[in-house]
Amino acid sequence: MSSILSNVLPAPEDPVLSVIFACRDDPCPVKLNLSVGAYQTEEGKPLVLEVVRKAEQQLANDLYCDKGYLPIDGLADFNKFSAKLILGDDSHAVKENRVVTIQCLSGTGSLRVGAEFLAKHHQQRVVFVPNPTWGNHPFIFTLAGLSVEYFRYYDPHTRGLDFEGMLEDLGAAPSGALVVLQACAHNPTGIDPTLEQWEQIRQIVRSKGLLPFFDNAYQGFASGNLDSDAQSVRMFVSDGGECLIAQSFAKNMGLYGERIGALTIVCTSEDVARKVKSQLLLVVRPMYLTPPIHGASIVTTILKNSDMYKDWTIELKGMADRIISMRQQLHEAIQARGTPGDWSHIIKQRGMFSFTGLNEKQVRMMAKEYHIYMTYDGRISMAGVSSKTVPQLADAIHAAVTRIP
Ligand SMILES: Cc1ncc(COP(=O)(O)O)c(C=O)c1O
Repeated sequence: MSSILSNVLPAPEDPVLSVIFACRDDPCPVKLNLSVGAYQTEEGKPLVLEVVRKAEQQLANDLYCDKGYLPIDGLADFNKFSAKLILGDDSHAVKENRVVTIQCLSGTGSLRVGAEFLAKHHQQRVVFVPNPTWGNHPFIFTLAGLSVEYFRYYDPHTRGLDFEGMLEDLGAAPSGALVVLQACAHNPTGIDPTLEQWEQIRQIVRSKGLLPFFDNAYQGFASGNLDSDAQSVRMFVSDGGECLIAQSFAKNMGLYGERIGALTIVCTSEDVARKVKSQLLLVVRPMYLTPPIHGASIVTTILKNSDMYKDWTIELKGMADRIISMRQQLHEAIQARGTPGDWSHIIKQRGMFSFTGLNEKQVRMMAKEYHIYMTYDGRISMAGVSSKTVPQLADAIHAAVTRIP
């Protein structure tokens, strides 16, 4: 039979997926997959937060809780409390009714809706993303029809922030260009600007008339505190200017598979906000009509109830603290082996990921000989490391660095 689809070409190989598949096919019983950004316990198991279980129990017992369609913009209380979570309890922008929040499909969906909206309503087609950045950012913005360019972010020599380069590149960006900034716990580098640096970034973004789009996928995961991790965003919002924020509850509530997040657009007036919201609904409607209800109900139950909210902050801090402790343990273990080089970046970096500085050859050798898998850029998920696996990882890093230049 003739095939209409026979001329479809295979997609290029995805480097992250190929690492995942290689690990899956490795028969070694002590293999370690550090390529995926999902939190695991000390026992190497995925974690469902206690507070999430409690919220789900409550929802299951609520006979008035139905499974009907949500409005196009999602659950109203979810939107209200999500905006409060990132903007703070006493946000002027919220009080002045110039904030639009709509429920979206996790962080990715929020970025995607934001990108589509900008492609339709913003004259400037250029979007600047950090070099390097989360691998999906270029796909999301390119697919929306925007043109992706990079600003300097990581300095391989210092394994820290190339702050001068970043300011220089943002200073040279055309007026109105979109700038993607990760609010905290930068993926893949684990390097965040200090508050003083954020202030300088804010000044250059505002003076050049750039439009900031914050990707807030890890609130609470960098410091263990939700408010501290929101400071970069709040700094920009408090100057009265515009910005977009894509928010995710995948990591900080462990709701990866629920696909729950929000897009917030902070506008300069209530009138602009009203128009922006009407256009956002037009973006969402042909895409998926309305967002899913279950994850939104879980998040709202927790954010609305002060006891549950407190329980959540304790569990969230527990996850962040475990990651910080893994950084310290790994750093100590690498030093104890006399591994050449300065490894202090492991403890200086924040959030789920560590950008080790290992090169592709070293990464491949660690997979082959030590059954430890990470992305080829040397990024490891610290959330997948445990006290038990630290020695295995430190041995592998030592061998890779001493044997392969
Ligand atoms: C920087 C960044 N943004 C957004 C996301 C999207 O996450 P999700 O769509 O699961 O919320 C991720 C996921 O790893 C990420 O690292």
